[in-house]
Amino acid sequence: MIRAIVLAAGKGTRMKSARSKVLHEVCGRPMLWYVLEALRRSGITQVLVVANEELQAEIARFGVESVLQSEQLGTGHAVRVALDRLEPRSGGRIVVACGDMPLVTEEIFRGIVGSLESQDGDEAVMSLVTVKMPLPSYFGRIVRRGSAVERIVEVSDATPEELAIDEMNAGIYAFDETALRDAVTRLRNDNAQSEYYLTDTVSYFVDAGKRVRPVLAGDHLQVLGINDRVELARARKEMNARLCAHHMRDGVTIVDPDTTYLEPELEIGVDTVIYPNTTIARLSKAGEACVVGPNSRLSHAVLGDRVAVRESVVIDSTIGSDVSVGPFAHLRNETNIADSAHIGNFVEIKKSKLARRVKVSHLSYVGDATIGEGTNVGAGTITCNFDGEKKNQTIVGRDVSIGSNTSLVAPVEVGDGALTGAGSVVIKDVPAGERVAGNPARPLPKK
Ligand code: UD1
Ligand code: MG
Repeated sequence: MIRAIVLAAGKGTRMKSARSKVLHEVCGRPMLWYVLEALRRSGITQVLVVANEELQAEIARFGVESVLQSEQLGTGHAVRVALDRLEPRSGGRIVVACGDMPLVTEEIFRGIVGSLESQDGDEAVMSLVTVKMPLPSYFGRIVRRGSAVERIVEVSDATPEELAIDEMNAGIYAFDETALRDAVTRLRNDNAQSEYYLTDTVSYFVDAGKRVRPVLAGDHLQVLGINDRVELARARKEMNARLCAHHMRDGVTIVDPDTTYLEPELEIGVDTVIYPNTTIARLSKAGEACVVGPNSRLSHAVLGDRVAVRESVVIDSTIGSDVSVGPFAHLRNETNIADSAHIGNFVEIKKSKLARRVKVSHLSYVGDATIGEGTNVGAGTITCNFDGEKKNQTIVGRDVSIGSNTSLVAPVEVGDGALTGAGSVVIKDVPAGERVAGNPARPLPKK
């Protein structure tokens, strides 16, 4: 069983934020979420996060265990605090990672765990991810003797020669548990930052004749540690590019990945086309052959197949198949639109249920309403759902014809097959088949 310690108690002062650094979001998820997800995908499910007080208060919602490091005395101290909490297991393996590396992948974790294992009978007590990176860099430098790693030197303790080394410590490690428990008790803080450096375990092991195995990561972006909002934006761009690539490989056309903003855990069907300046967020789903965008936003939206959402906003709503929405429509709060409906331009629909083939084509507000199959809602129709105190329901039957500029003063009901004339102000229920007009609307003479 492999266990992981995620270090996240640092103050993250360079973010200049009231929030804990690892809770800042990249593509709709906190940075820490990505690290936990990569660990989980690599098969590591037992995770302990080292947190400060503020983070610990918020971390419960991740369903992950945490331990409080009340004073940030360095990464070595943080690991020691975590080990004090973890029940010792001989032969155990411990992965240590930082909570501020949202671009880390499951392959990196698999790689370091794998490299601890014996290779030609040569067991290592520690493996660590190293990375070549353009200079200057704030990362600790990997000092080698021959091909072997000898120690890690932090930037603030490095000589000019050491600063010229372009192989860095990514801050991701795997340890033999017994060796790690021993090594962290030996750490000292006689360095430029007066901190207990986890990185000093390397020279401790090497001096004791033990084996430390480096694993060179191919791409330094994967281990980008986020320290400020400039790096946060870089990480977001990279993550978004990955998410777009994933969906494109799964059969979705994304016209411009640079201006299409996705999040993890979306479902988008094949042959769906996403046009520029579009955001799809919060577990939204789109079926096959949909068109979304340009200039659209979906959040908690569920779309069937062949749905077009153009220049529109769909939030917390479900749409059937063969529906067109927009341009410039706003659907929100538990709106439910059935198959083959049409929602046209400048239409807002809130908390309403529209049956199959309903048309609301132009300039309408439909709120707290139920509209039956095949009904046509004329241009400029408004459900007057708010009486100044509470919201009231409007119920319209099937195959109703609501004339242009009708005001439906709720609570009110219009029966199946009824008709309202243009400009009607409907303040009383209209029976099925009745034709009304005027202000207030009255029955028209029977033909
Ligand atoms: C650390 C490494 C450095 C490496 C770099 C990669 C050490 C001494 N240095 O430096 O070699 O190149 O990461 O990003 O380890 N933390 C705690 N408690 C503490 C201190 C830190 O939980 O007392 C956490 C931080 O929240 C952060 C992580 O540990 O997530 C790394 O700490 P940070 O101070 O950022 O270390 P670096 O200076 O970046
Ligand atoms: Mg850092």
